[in-house]
Order: sequence, then structure tokens, then C-alpha cells
Amino acid sequence: GYALWMRYLPLEPALAADYRTHLGEVLAPDRTPTQRVAREELERGLSGLLGSAPRGHAAAATGPALVLGTPQSSTSIAPLREELASLGDEGYLLRRTRMGGRQVLLVAARRDIGVLHGVFHLLRLLQTGASLDALELRESPRLRLRVLNHWDNLDGHVERGYAGRSLWDWQTLPEWRDPRYTDYARANASLGINGTVLNNVNASAQSLAPDYLDKAATLADMFRPYGIRVYLSARFSAPIELGGLKTADPLDPAVQRWWRDKADEIYARIPDFGGLLVKANSEGQPGPQDYGRSHADGANLLADALAPHGGVVMWRAFVYAHDVPADRATQAYSEFAGLDGAFRPNVNLQVKNGPLDFQPREPFHPLFGAMPRTPLMMEVQITKEYLGFATHLVYLGPLYEEVLRSDTHARGEGSTVAQVLAGMAGVANIGTDRTWSGSHFDQANWYAFGRLAWNPRQSARDIAADWAAMTFSPDPDVVQPIVAMMMASREAAVNYMTPLGLHHLMARGHHYGPGPWVDGGPRADWTSVYYHRADRNGIGFDRTARGSNAVAQYAPAVAARHGDLAQVPEPLLLWFHHVPWEHRMASGQTLWDELVGRYSQGVRQVQAMQATWATLAPVERGSAPLRGKVDAQRHAQVAAYLRIQRREAQWWRDASVAYFQSVSGRPLPAGEAAPP
Ligand code: GCU
Repeated sequence: GYALWMRYLPLEPALAADYRTHLGEVLAPDRTPTQRVAREELERGLSGLLGSAPRGHAAAATGPALVLGTPQSSTSIAPLREELASLGDEGYLLRRTRMGGRQVLLVAARRDIGVLHGVFHLLRLLQTGASLDALELRESPRLRLRVLNHWDNLDGHVERGYAGRSLWDWQTLPEWRDPRYTDYARANASLGINGTVLNNVNASAQSLAPDYLDKAATLADMFRPYGIRVYLSARFSAPIELGGLKTADPLDPAVQRWWRDKADEIYARIPDFGGLLVKANSEGQPGPQDYGRSHADGANLLADALAPHGGVVMWRAFVYAHDVPADRATQAYSEFAGLDGAFRPNVNLQVKNGPLDFQPREPFHPLFGAMPRTPLMMEVQITKEYLGFATHLVYLGPLYEEVLRSDTHARGEGSTVAQVLAGMAGVANIGTDRTWSGSHFDQANWYAFGRLAWNPRQSARDIAADWAAMTFSPDPDVVQPIVAMMMASREAAVNYMTPLGLHHLMARGHHYGPGPWVDGGPRADWTSVYYHRADRNGIGFDRTARGSNAVAQYAPAVAARHGDLAQVPEPLLLWFHHVPWEHRMASGQTLWDELVGRYSQGVRQVQAMQATWATLAPVERGSAPLRGKVDAQRHAQVAAYLRIQRREAQWWRDASVAYFQSVSGRPLPAGEAAPP
């Protein structure tokens, strides 16, 4: 599992021979660090896939050639200068054409980093068995900021991490440059991810201390050739903890000076430092409100310190206050929507995909579309805090796609979330685990995040197909069943955990198993009964005008649809409405029967995934080693994890149905066995 989607195993001989004749001689510059890593990746990829390393600069200018470069680095590419400018600094083109009588394949870009992205794209075409005839592709990222957020603490523990310890070995940095840092950068660059926040949003002030900045600088040096900038999470009260000041008030001149000096200190070590990510006044973190100031005052303080160096602030909108509001889902909008226009241009507001907290399904966050003068980033979780950690197979591509394609109606019909974004942040699922992500299939979530951040209009299914081909085998008999499993997996989890718009039914604290009952939390919104509101008559959180009126935070067209019981999409029914158990669903069943049916359906969907996976099992042939379309080792681990998932889906189903039955007092529908 270590090689991720960059396995580069030998292709089928006929295909490899065909590619070899298309590609021919490789002409690639290797003067800058990025040029060198592009060339190395190409050599690694081609020698693995085609069984022979590409030839270097040959004198004979005949026969086909693969030409890499920018207008500066390649005379063959110089004439494309204007065309390449339109693709921006990170974009590239792949083109088959003729030049001076030669058949050439160009990987051309304005800057070296674009060439590296183009190399990864070309390798992906080979890995997936695509045709290179008449190749003509122009690519540039749709979103500027494509960033991983590591919730890694300085002691090596990863908050909500299920893939081992932190990849950053602070103890041995900056001296030891673990080659794994380079492989991490390769994986990210292969997707076009261009930034990484090294430390947890629940930040220690120490991450900005000089010795940690030296360590971060070493990582930045290693990531730079791959086009990846380093960012840090900042603790708002760092001027007190590190600087010895008495206050962190954003309007205090000494505080402002401290942050300016800190920025100078950082940029002296990391000239291309990306900027700071901040969680303020949320879940007990310090922030500007501690001094009676606004989020804008706090964000602008840091923005002013970073601006002279070109750095940005990513200010999180995930605010989870101490006073329980009437509806927790309304809090971010209430605090931030009115601040539109009050932030410096280099502030990005980082908003979670939904109004609550990375649930299996939420509607899109109402701030998307509501702050036209503020660059917004969408934060998604790649780590599966609420989706079965690393054991449950849940492909998140469809979740990301669903929210990216949601229509905010902010500028009329068709203003999708994707269109209003400046960037995407993904809470990483990466650690020291040999597979990086805690399981083989969780690698797909890192992959899908990166691909969608580059182009949020891509389809989750196509991305799954690429990933399956690159990770397992390009054989359609492998890709097709794996994609089917992946595409069904998210809906399966929604069904066995939180069907029909239910949310936050996980046990408090660990968020793994079911806990729809009262579990004695100190606050109303720390217990699931707050969210499902099930009683003898019905179930669901009334967010219409009769209830919390959270629905009014959306554009009128969305509010009208979601606020109307007759129009709300059934997957969001109980998010927006409190509905009687006898309510007739589209299926003709009552809500009660449908709810129980959905839970059971979730279990059956996991069984179906198991059955599909079993078809890919290696078979024994006499005394020969096990052979199959998927290698025995990975097959066995996935099969074992699916058995765990199957058992736990049943656990979710039984616990949830039993609990809701204790409240509704209704009989189980015919055919649904009573829980043990
Ligand atoms: C969730 C998660 C926390 C995290 C928080 C955040 O509540 O459980 O671990 O700190 O989100 O996004 O800040």
C-alpha cells in the first residue's frame, strides 16, 4: 500500500509496446529542482510501466519524441509562449503533433511546476490504459488554494487521525530529511495539491517558536520542488504564550508589532511560506472575541502582518460557542455573514462543507453564496471522523461532489458551491501507517479530494475509476466492480448511520459507534437527542419558520424548497423538518417503516460490497501461489475490514432501530426481524 496510486507496475506487453512507439526519445530539461523531479518521476513511471527507462538526450533528431518543458527551458516549446500563458502558472498542455518532421508528444507549461503536473497526467493516462492518439489536453486548476490540513499535534498524536502517528517527526527534524516526506510531496503533486498546513487547528503556540520554524523550513525546502507551500496553524494568543505580552487584543499596537515581527521571522526562513490557518473562539480556543473584537479584527491583524510577504490567512468559520444557541447549525452564518466586506483581501474564510460537522450527509453550508466579497474555502474531512474511521469502506468522492454541485442560487439558478469557492481544504487522513491512510480504500479519499480541488466539476465516478485502475489494475474486470463498490459505499453508510437527513447520532467523544440516546453530556448539543428530536409522534429537527428557522439562512429559492415538506429532498427530510411517524414517503411507506427499512438497507449494501469483493478473490491453482486480479495481501485486508464493517453496520442498525422503537412505540414493519 505504500506506493499509493503511483505503483507503476508493468503494463500488459502489447500495450507497453504501443506506448513505447508513441513516446520514443525523451527530451527533458533538468537544470532546476522542479525540472529534475519531473524528469525523475517520468523515468520512474516509464521504466516501471513500460519495462525500460527512457533514453536521455540523443543526438539523432529523428523518430518520435516526448518533449517536456517551458518556453524558457525548451526551444521546441518557446513558440507556444502565448498559448501557455492562458493556462496560468500551474497549468499545462499535453499535445501530439509534428515538429520538424518528427512525431512529438509535448508536455508543455508556462512554469516548471506545470510540467510536473503534466508529467503526472501523462503517467495517469498510461496507468489507466488511455489512448495517446490525437492527444490534446489543456488543463489549469479551477481553484487557487488546494490545501491539506493536518490536525497533527507537536507530540506526534493526530487529532481524529486513524492512520498512525503524525508523519512529521519533529524530534528528528530539521536534521533528518525522511525520504517519506518526498513521497508525500510526490503524491500531493500528482493531484495538484499546492499547500499543506502542518499542525492542528487546535494549535500549540509552540508551532511558531524558532526551533519549530526551523523544522517547518526543512519540510518547506523538501516540498518546494513539488509546488507545495507550507502553512501553519496559529494560536491566537501566541503573543502572550510566546511573546510574554499581557494581551492578544488585535487592536493593541504591541500585539500588532509582535505578529509583524513573527511574520518577518517566518519569511526569513521560508520565503514562500503560504500563511496562517486560525481556529478562534471555537471549542475553547482563544480569539478576538475574548477582547470584545470581531472575527474580522482578528483575521485582519494577521493578514496585515502577512501581506507584505504575500501570505494569506485562512480564518475558520467553524465556531462552536460555549452558549448553546437555539440551533447549533445556525451559528457560523450568524457570526460571519454580516462581516462580508470587512476582511482584508488576503483573508480567506474557511467554511466546512455543511453547517454542522462533517456528518455523513448535510446540506451545503449557508455561508456559500452569502459572502460575495469574501474569498471562501470549503473545508472537507478526508479523515472519516464520523464515517467509520479507517475500517469502514466509504468513498467520499460522492459526498464532495454532492456539495460542490449544490445550487446556492446566490446569483440565480446555477450558482453552484463550486463556482463560489476560492479553494478547498481537506482534513488529511495521512499518518505513519504503511498504507498512509489506515486502509487501502481510504487512499481513494485523499486522491478524490486532490482531483476535485483541481477541478471541482469532475465526476466522482470517473475519479474512482482512475484510482482503481492505478491502485489495483487497469483491467476493466477489476475497475468496474471496484467502482461499483465505491460509488455505493457512501449511501450505505448514510443508511446504516444517519438516514433521511438525521445527523450526529454518533456516540459522544469518539464518534465511532451509534449513540442516539441521551448520554448525559454537559450541554444539550452534545447529545444526539438534541439533533434527532424523536418523540412518540415523530422525528426530526424543525428548521423551518415554525422551528429554528435555519432554513432562512439560505437564498430564497433554496429556503422555499427545503422549508416545504412537500418539496424537500427526502435525503434531507429530517434535517429540516420534524415529521410525524405516519408521514407518507415517496415510496408509499410510512416514515417509520421507511426509516427502519433504510437502516436494514444499509446493512444489505455492505453485504453487497462484500459479495463484489469476493469475486476479486485470488484463486488457488494446485500448489502455485495464490493468483488473482487483486493481490492476495491487499485482498485479504480489505475483506477483513469489510467483515468488520458488516458487523458494525448491523450494530448501528440494531442499536438505532431499538432506540427509535423505544421512543416511537411502533411495531417493526413486516419482514424486519426484531433486534436481539
Ligand atoms: C470537530 C472535531 C474536533 C475538531 C473540530 C474542528 O468537532 O471533533 O476534533 O477540533 O471539529 O473542526 O475544529
